[in-house]
Amino acid sequence: MGASLLSSPAFLVFFSFFALCLLPGPVLGITRHYKFDIKLHNVTRLCHTKSIVSVNGQFPGPRIVAREGDQLLIKVVNHLSNNISIHWHGIRQLRSGWADGPAYVTQCPIQTGQSYVYNFTIVGQRGTLFWHAHISWLRATVYGPIVILPKRGVPYPFAKPYKEVPITFGEWFNADPEAVISQALRRGGGPNVSDAYTINGLPGPLYNCSAKDTFKLKVRPGKTYLLRLINAALNNELFFSVANHTLTVVDFDAIYVKPFETETLLITPGQTTNVLLKTKPSYPSATFFMTARPYVTGQGTFDNSTVAGILEYELPPDSFHSSIKMLPLFKPILPALNDTSFATNFANKLRSLASAQYPANVPQKVDKHFFFAVGLGTSPCQQNRTCQGPNGTKMAASVNNVSFAMPTTALLQAHFLGQSNGVYTPDFPSNPIIPFNYTGTTPNNTMVSNGTKVVVLPFNTSVELVMQDTSILGAESHPLHLHGFNFFVVGQGFGNFDPKKDLANFNLVDPIERNTVGVPSGGWVAIRFLADNPGVWLMHCHLEVHTSWGLKMAWIVLDGKLPNQKLLPPPADLPKC
Ligand code: C2O
Repeated sequence: MGASLLSSPAFLVFFSFFALCLLPGPVLGITRHYKFDIKLHNVTRLCHTKSIVSVNGQFPGPRIVAREGDQLLIKVVNHLSNNISIHWHGIRQLRSGWADGPAYVTQCPIQTGQSYVYNFTIVGQRGTLFWHAHISWLRATVYGPIVILPKRGVPYPFAKPYKEVPITFGEWFNADPEAVISQALRRGGGPNVSDAYTINGLPGPLYNCSAKDTFKLKVRPGKTYLLRLINAALNNELFFSVANHTLTVVDFDAIYVKPFETETLLITPGQTTNVLLKTKPSYPSATFFMTARPYVTGQGTFDNSTVAGILEYELPPDSFHSSIKMLPLFKPILPALNDTSFATNFANKLRSLASAQYPANVPQKVDKHFFFAVGLGTSPCQQNRTCQGPNGTKMAASVNNVSFAMPTTALLQAHFLGQSNGVYTPDFPSNPIIPFNYTGTTPNNTMVSNGTKVVVLPFNTSVELVMQDTSILGAESHPLHLHGFNFFVVGQGFGNFDPKKDLANFNLVDPIERNTVGVPSGGWVAIRFLADNPGVWLMHCHLEVHTSWGLKMAWIVLDGKLPNQKLLPPPADLPKC
């Protein structure tokens, strides 16, 4: 089917109607419409009432539910005085880069009073993803789940769960997150940390003035629940566990995995995972905490608090207990805040399902190798001022020592129109310009350079990228997220990557496929992907503070020769800068 036919509105209306009413078959998707009104509304947490940016007056925002193969038309209307843009995190956006959402990368932000319809189709993905604002720190309150069900008639590769429950982790600031980051960038030091973590927007009973704001999962004995976990926190990787219950991991970043059991999970910002929770065979006469708290490797201050929700069994009808309040409460034991060996062991358990139906199409040959050193650095303070970064500098972050300078117009548009002049340059370094001992003693000069540099890839280039953490201003785990693609995590290790010995250990059979991976603290991770999606694709650390400091870069994938290998033309309502 041609693109022009598919995108004609009359055809779409007819097509969705047709698919809805006449076709119970498993193949064709339908079109689903959503409307997001972005506005301020008052929310109270921890006894602080404040006005937050949210969608349709909901916090967390509304759930998007679709099946694999469905088309989504999501109209976003901006009622704020700020600019806004929404990203559909993890959605492949095949040829539809205009709908990806990072401000000044694939689109200019939606201005006050304006609207934009995000138009994309979900192809080859099933599981959980999420959407979030992709401009400044607005994603602190603007986020919500994306639930992707398999095509109608296609079962899960595991027994059908009794119920499915999204569990979204977030971070709550009593202050305005926009003020927090703008102050930090002005002063050059680290931003103030959050006041609480949240589960589905609720901090839970371990915080002051918060017991009534507790997420409760009410369950029945002898059932299997599918928890759709999402880490939408701004700046923290999280450990998560449910007391006295084992979790079976079945899906990561909307890709099925070889199931494995675990008491505790580690989930970085930008990651999502589906887990099965089997309840006790009979009423346990107890309640259970589910808790999350951070995994921290950096040197800055952080929010070391714990969010708790409650797993509560429904009372049996013939119960002697008059109230669940009398029951014993079990609490999970989470790993130490800096437990890197847990992180390593956990990462080593992840394997693609790699079955005939859900193969792992790992690129076996590599056309282009990249080596990116990722980490922190500094930049000079403004004249005649002192800044709060190391030795009076400003904190910065970079990839191959390039701290990404945000353009003032969208990269995708500049690329599409052939007007890159003055917007970006195609000279992003494939390797560090000045190699050094990345995980050894910090070099004397920690200053980063600034630029809007991109890597340009011909269509269908097979890429291997090694991301190497640096110890500049402290080794730290960085959850790197790539827009527009899933990648395979073919290897990882500690210290400096050494091709001579490390290549031999790569897993090219069933590596985990995902869109966000933690670069180990003081180590490296190797990924492979096929650049089969034309467009401009941001890659960045999903710790928002590092993104703000410049830990991001962009890939441009050129059109292929065939008509179905080309980026679609921009929609008529694409926002202007
Ligand atoms: Cu979820 Cu560019 O991010």
